[in-house]
Amino acid sequence: RKTVTLHRLRAMREAGEKVAMLTAYDAASARLLDDCGVDCLLVGDSLGMVMQGHPSTLPVTLEQMAYHTGCVARGNRGAWLIADLPFGSYQGGVEQAVASSAALMQAGAQMVKLEGGGWTAPIVAALVERGIPVCAHLGLTPQSVHALGGYRIQGRDAAAAQNLRAHARELGRAGAAMLVLELVPSDLAADISAGYPGITIGIGAGQRTHGQVLVLHDMLDITAGTKPRFVRNFMQGAASIGDAVRSYVRDVKSGAFPDEALHGYSA
Ligand code: KIV
Ligand code: NA
Repeated sequence: RKTVTLHRLRAMREAGEKVAMLTAYDAASARLLDDCGVDCLLVGDSLGMVMQGHPSTLPVTLEQMAYHTGCVARGNRGAWLIADLPFGSYQGGVEQAVASSAALMQAGAQMVKLEGGGWTAPIVAALVERGIPVCAHLGLTPQSVHALGGYRIQGRDAAAAQNLRAHARELGRAGAAMLVLELVPSDLAADISAGYPGITIGIGAGQRTHGQVLVLHDMLDITAGTKPRFVRNFMQGAASIGDAVRSYVRDVKSGAFPDEALHGYSA
């Protein structure tokens, strides 16, 4: 298949084709996901929980992110590769964010992702000016789990929703070509997506974003314990992991996943 570029992702948004993204932390799964038609691979700092067994993403280091980004880059052939800037690697400001992003780009990332609202806009703008594509991340931002008081839905009341809309506007103006919306009411995510100049990717944000992302181990049901309601187990009825990943891609593209009633949240 054709290599996925930012240009191609923008064209998908224009054409109304949904973008299918999954996390990847190693070369073998990167190759499998790429072969199954996943558009974007995210080396998420969720690897701190999934790979390392931590209770949050906070302990993940930049060196570890660069290591996993390299692993994924060597397995990947044509998918767009995004890597998370981990906690503490950009909060210090523009200079720190540029240096950290350079480390991830040199490891093979094509875009970096960072969490947070308006305070990150100057950082986003500086990275974009320096030729580093940026994905922003709003709503439930796991690096702020202690400030947010747990992994809970965001933007439910009118004031919080207005706040999220304002942050999205600032990040869009700063040039974030992509925006992840995590655990926000479906109507709010739809509203933000319609006005966003780039590509929005939802997780627990309903069906009306420009694309979807899930943690690979969640959708393969490898993760222990109870999963959030927005996760679907794609291994159910699948003959292989490849089969499960292909149904994820197919169902994201067709709009069958997520199902608003099963996986969406209302305000
Ligand atoms: O780290 C991660 O996997 C993520 C996605 C869930 C959006 O940030
Ligand atoms: Na993340």
